[in-house]
Amino acid sequence: MSKCIKTLLFAILFAAVSLGTVQAKQLIVGVDANFRPFEFKNEKGEFTGFDVQLFDAIAEDLGLDYKWQTMDFNGIIPALQSKSIDAAIAGITIKSAREEVVDFSHPYYDSGLVLLVRADNEDIKTIDDLKDKVVVTKTATTSVDFLKSVETEDVKLLPNTDNLFMELLTGGADAVFFDSPPLMYYAQNQGKGKVKVVGPLYQGQPYGIAFPQGSELREKVNITLLKMMEDGRYAELYKKWFGTEPK
Ligand code: ARG
Repeated sequence: MSKCIKTLLFAILFAAVSLGTVQAKQLIVGVDANFRPFEFKNEKGEFTGFDVQLFDAIAEDLGLDYKWQTMDFNGIIPALQSKSIDAAIAGITIKSAREEVVDFSHPYYDSGLVLLVRADNEDIKTIDDLKDKVVVTKTATTSVDFLKSVETEDVKLLPNTDNLFMELLTGGADAVFFDSPPLMYYAQNQGKGKVKVVGPLYQGQPYGIAFPQGSELREKVNITLLKMMEDGRYAELYKKWFGTEPK
């Protein structure tokens, strides 16, 4: 075989192998692992939650190879913008400013914002009672936006959900204002007897899986998500984590 043909065959082989690698590329999925009951480490140290198992099920259906990339919530949208991750699921609220810079799946969970106070607090019943109170919430979340139009003494921002609860229990804040699921979950579990949720649900908010703009994965994920909603797999997972039929 002439040297030229050998080189050509080698080039073709190399191209085929690299193409295969591109197609079978392991996806990186961003998550903030501190948002019970959506994503967290359980007592056995296993990474689990509604989001985690929902994405696992979607990925299994689509035959996707992927790994989780844990990050602070405020790093997720920038990581999608720079395409250093291929998708993110982290109780991310679908909102216009984010839709301008990333792409979202169909909504998969109806959430909203609530107030959490210490169990013995009788002063705070709604957001109108926060004028002389210190409120704490999580950095770069929709609660930060919402609190801009609420009169308070101070709004503290912390990047980690567990620290919001610590801040409330140690008296560094009078109330936590944040997504309803983690606050309800804390009030019913680790915080039982120590804290309570008060007032109405403020601002209903849908959660979506986020992708870099133009991602081809979104349509595939959407179809699987809808199939799971139609065939009962979504309802089963929902009941497992929230104890009720999907809203
Ligand atoms: N839903 C809120 C938002 O999108 C908070 C989400 C926080 N999620 C998390 N995994 N820490 O801004």
